[in-house]
Amino acid sequence: MRIAMVGTGYVGLVSGVCFSEFGVDVICVDKIREKIEALSSGEIPIYEPGLEELVRANAGSGRLTFSNDLGSAVSDTDAVFIAVGTPSRRGDGHADLSYVYAAAEEIAGSLVGRTVIVTKSTVPVGTGDEIERRIVKTRPDLKPGRDFDVVSNPEFLREGSAIEDFMRPDRIVVGAHSDYARDVLRKLYRPLFLRDTPVLFTDRCTAELTKYASNAFLATKITFINEIANLCEAVGADVQDVARGMGLDGRIGSKFLHAGPGFGGSCFPKDAAALARTGEDFGSPLQIVNTVMAVNTGRRAQMADKVIAACGGQIRGKKIAILGLTFKPNTDDIRDAPSLDIISALQAAGARISAYDPVGMVAAKGHVADVSWGNSAYDILGGAAALVIITEWNEFRALDLARIKSLMAAPLIVDLRNIYRLAEMREEGIRYVSVGRPEIEQ
Ligand SMILES: NC(=O)c1ccc[n+]([C@@H]2O[C@H](COP(=O)([O-])OP(=O)(O)OC[C@H]3O[C@@H](n4cnc5c(N)ncnc54)[C@H](O)[C@@H]3O)[C@@H](O)[C@H]2O)c1
Repeated sequence: MRIAMVGTGYVGLVSGVCFSEFGVDVICVDKIREKIEALSSGEIPIYEPGLEELVRANAGSGRLTFSNDLGSAVSDTDAVFIAVGTPSRRGDGHADLSYVYAAAEEIAGSLVGRTVIVTKSTVPVGTGDEIERRIVKTRPDLKPGRDFDVVSNPEFLREGSAIEDFMRPDRIVVGAHSDYARDVLRKLYRPLFLRDTPVLFTDRCTAELTKYASNAFLATKITFINEIANLCEAVGADVQDVARGMGLDGRIGSKFLHAGPGFGGSCFPKDAAALARTGEDFGSPLQIVNTVMAVNTGRRAQMADKVIAACGGQIRGKKIAILGLTFKPNTDDIRDAPSLDIISALQAAGARISAYDPVGMVAAKGHVADVSWGNSAYDILGGAAALVIITEWNEFRALDLARIKSLMAAPLIVDLRNIYRLAEMREEGIRYVSVGRPEIEQ
């Protein structure tokens, strides 16, 4: 089998390398020349655990190659995957499909032999139909179901564990309208079929909606536990125990019940917005999703207020040290990370910010200004009025608390990820403010 992956970002690169690991010949295409040059010389443009080794092994075997030339890459392939970005359209929250359609039209120009065009990007209901229309408009000689097939195969991988998620997914969703297309997808995912991975074959529109419904549901779970955390603080309960008590119920499940600074990243915010817009467009409003977005947006200001309150109600001129900038650990992705809004709000209230993140600082520098960047967690602490943990990188889970105490102006940790036990802070004599749990006084 031979495929082309159009768009070599977080999803395209991981999917491409994993398919080549399955034994498929893969050519990854991107329009950014430097990205392809870097990949061709063995450099990995993103941080994703395990990716570098897998790219090296598969490129070395000759099964994985990289190109800027979409035309020659897609001709004579069994399938072409579209894995380009679908950001929020400025102003209205609809998914911006311009990259998807541009890619589809470019692909159409170079199709040779029956080819399955697979949308891996997250795209709203009806996008597959529009791709089909545009391909026919670009190439009136091509007929759907005879010369090409358009399939929806949404991707559910998570940054930070992307390879494991791709190799061992909970399920594969395929929205296809022909036996030929279903068969090509079955062959491509053969190793996963052999492992009895659940596969849902459905129609295109259902597959497209399944991805949005999944992301919106997970965003809802996060937002729900965050509101419960607020209530825990008001009544003196502990959200960790509430979440555990809820999560042990098999109908609820323990995942995505971690109270924190709200969801961010390149998917949940834009996908929730796009789903809400789809609901409006089709006269079927999604009130829960709209509320989730509003609550989550307010969450970032709430977290900044929490820091200010912990510092005695004002932070003008005070130094606040921030640990963790990426929207979650094990990625360098900073897109729509809560840290960016929290830092801006603290700066607006007059704080001086120092910050450290194991891999996210390069990207963060393009989003926040006037930050003093450190080389380690301890490097940013000198004279700080508060240490704020925003992303739960493993290296922040076992900090030397005595050292922290000696470096700070006053020992105060505001932990927005609840990664420490209350008892250890009490023992160490550190004032500790976390999310949905009782405060520990010094
Ligand atoms: N990042 C995730 O965790 C994740 C998970 C599941 C689904 N998705 C979805 O997958 C899609 C891609 O997301 P991503 O995070 O990988 O995006 P990304 O921005 O990291 O990568 C997209 C790539 O596509 C390239 N591109 C755009 N137009 C092109 C064209 N015409 N030809 C060649 N290359 C082109 C861009 O240069 C970029 O490198 C989105 O729809 C996203 O919602 C993302």
